[in-house]
Amino acid sequence: MAKSGLGQAGQATAIKLVEVQRIDRSGVSSIIRAITQDGCCIIKDFTDTETLKKANEEVRPYLKQINLGRAIYFPQRPDDLTSHFVDKTTSVYYGETKHTYTSEAICSIGITFDIGTGGKAQRLHRDDKNFHVDHEDQTKMGYRVGLDVMMAVTVPGVKTTYENRETLAIPGRHLWGSDRAPKAEEAILAEMETGDAWVMLGGLYHAGGANII
Ligand SMILES: [Fe+2]
Repeated sequence: MAKSGLGQAGQATAIKLVEVQRIDRSGVSSIIRAITQDGCCIIKDFTDTETLKKANEEVRPYLKQINLGRAIYFPQRPDDLTSHFVDKTTSVYYGETKHTYTSEAICSIGITFDIGTGGKAQRLHRDDKNFHVDHEDQTKMGYRVGLDVMMAVTVPGVKTTYENRETLAIPGRHLWGSDRAPKAEEAILAEMETGDAWVMLGGLYHAGGANII
């Protein structure tokens, strides 16, 4: 299917690319497989219309008051996914006794954002830059659980479309080493219905699209 991607200056370019996998929230093992392969997927029916309506109503007064983009809404933590991809178990010796500990993922940030008309597209980037991650190339050996330090979950308050700044991403580019640059023409759109959620590894190249409504 022909999709519109992100041009050099954020303009649309007609390109033919793979689709982001869309998987129902009950298929946890399928979701894990999709994220291992692509670095991302869309979780269908992640939440329900009532919850979304309530969240939109709660944040609306704040979005009206502020310059858009302050922390307000904390999405539900998808435990099965973060425990698979982010939790880490390591061992250390105390004297001659070996101790094993598991560090569980924490919710380090929760934000609400509303990109108004005319909002520019972001450049493709990796969110785990905030944690100083230096990616080794995994394209040959395959994805290795334990190297990722974060995941992101986005629950759109409205149906996302090309026009209203849906997420762009390059599935599979979570495997690249730090020395490879993402190409804008490879980015595809992740259109979502209300109630869906976007989930991705911190190492996946992605960007917020422009709002051209
Ligand atoms: Fe980002």
